[in-house]
Amino acid sequence: MKILVTGGAGFIGSHLVSRLLQLGHQVWTLDDLSNGHQEFLEHVITHERHTFVHDSVMHRKTVEQLVQKVDAIYHLAAVLGVKNTVENPLKVIENNIDGTRIVLESAYKKRAKVVLASTSEVYGKNEKLPFKEDSDRVLGPPSTHRWCYSTAKAIDEHLGFAYADKGLPVTVVRYFNAYGPRQTSSQYGGVVPRFIKAALTDRPIEVYGDGTQTRCFTFISDTVAGTVAALNPKADGLAFNIGSDQPITIRDLALAIHRLTDSASTIATVPYEQAYGPGYEDMQARIADLTRSQNILQYRPSVALEEGLRKTIAWYRKSLT
Ligand SMILES: NC(=O)c1ccc[n+]([C@@H]2O[C@H](COP(=O)([O-])OP(=O)(O)OC[C@H]3O[C@@H](n4cnc5c(N)ncnc54)[C@H](O)[C@@H]3O)[C@@H](O)[C@H]2O)c1
Repeated sequence: MKILVTGGAGFIGSHLVSRLLQLGHQVWTLDDLSNGHQEFLEHVITHERHTFVHDSVMHRKTVEQLVQKVDAIYHLAAVLGVKNTVENPLKVIENNIDGTRIVLESAYKKRAKVVLASTSEVYGKNEKLPFKEDSDRVLGPPSTHRWCYSTAKAIDEHLGFAYADKGLPVTVVRYFNAYGPRQTSSQYGGVVPRFIKAALTDRPIEVYGDGTQTRCFTFISDTVAGTVAALNPKADGLAFNIGSDQPITIRDLALAIHRLTDSASTIATVPYEQAYGPGYEDMQARIADLTRSQNILQYRPSVALEEGLRKTIAWYRKSLT
């Protein structure tokens, strides 16, 4: 197939592009490099079936021209991360809603399949676990910027499902804490890269909050496998949790990284207000119900956390030297 990947120079996108090329597809990568890195595509940049386009999804003409060439679009380009959400809400809202709208409008003209990258953040602070794809969204007030990323991604999903009603094949994948090589913490402070960088440089590993909050981490190869499977026409018009159902507390994650890196770092706790400013709310737990992903996409995460952390640490050791 001919496939466009927006945000393809980012963490998940660059792994997805490699996998799609391995599978024999012809791939166009569109990325404005605001958080992506051309080096992440080094191994494929001269590939005969790959074309890199340095531009923004906000540029309608570019998107329309690219969409005309392809059968399917993976729309991953987005501004993300808790830090961006609280510090740059306008950037998060405008990029994530306007960009998706342009992608969907262009795809509709071409009748090209769209896979939209969404997030477990859409469930907000719902305490009913695990999250099924039709679970409620429970959010704080719009005056709290913390919820703007969740809301923008939910609008993207609404747009996607509205186009699905008009006959466009659209599938939504909701990622749960993907991690692995090439996840950099520079702009959005992902917890795994933040802990690994601190551990490898013997700086304090800072656990925000009391560390009892849990998350389900998903190694990048599993995230990509679920994303690739979303091209299946049986997935059209549906959302899927692409994550793991094995929770770990953030404190235990810090201890595991400390042990696996043989670090001399201390483990410190930092109040949320100090990390993200006053009024910040975190979710105590987030667990994916994988029934639908398993039944329709045959998705089942296979990389255990310790194995994934070892691979990620090895990549950081190389990239920090
Ligand atoms: N990493 C996770 O755990 C996670 C969890 C939930 C959802 N997601 C979603 O998955 C997708 C990929 O996330 P990621 O972790 O790879 O992040 P990332 O920041 O590494 O990748 C996003 C890419 O989009 C590019 N981009 C941003 N704005 C753009 C624009 N206007 N035009 C073109 N390119 C633009 C960035 O340069 C970057 O390369 C995003 O849509 C994100 O919301 C990720």
